[in-house]
Amino acid sequence: MMTLKVNGREHQVDAEADTPLLYVLRDDLKLNAAKYGCGLGQCGSCTVIVDGKAVLSCVVPMVLLEGKQVTTLEGLGTIAEPAPIQRAFMEEQAAQCGYCIPGMMMRAQALLQKNSKPTDEQIRAELEPHLCRCGTHMRILRAVHRAARLMDTADASPAANRSAR
Ligand code: FES
Ligand code: FES
Repeated sequence: MMTLKVNGREHQVDAEADTPLLYVLRDDLKLNAAKYGCGLGQCGSCTVIVDGKAVLSCVVPMVLLEGKQVTTLEGLGTIAEPAPIQRAFMEEQAAQCGYCIPGMMMRAQALLQKNSKPTDEQIRAELEPHLCRCGTHMRILRAVHRAARLMDTADASPAANRSAR
């Protein structure tokens, strides 16, 4: 039995030390925003934030997560009260099939938490590990800039402000 802290809550999880975090999130905790794409650390769809850094949850074993704070997309905002990053992606209609989008949002969120005004080049470099088969890259780029503006205004939702701390 291991303790896993996700979105501010502690969970007792019956998992082997080498079980990937993604499996625990989806199968045990029913947090399905992080997606299984390749399972090999090559697509970015499983990205979550651990202690402020974007990580590929399909290749992070549970043994490395003791005492760490995991944040998933569910921890940023809700449908009724979306975080700025979620609002921005919706407002820019960045999703086509949507499969890559939760991972893109989590890495963008981690970027914006350390760099509130990233350039085009910085966003492109940061999101480089992420694949989007639908090719909505330009909308995703616009969405990250929009999120930066939203986070910078009083307009940002309370849920978003919480997540950015
Ligand atoms: S599912 Fe984790 S990188 Fe593809
Ligand atoms: S929106 Fe379909 S893979 Fe990116």
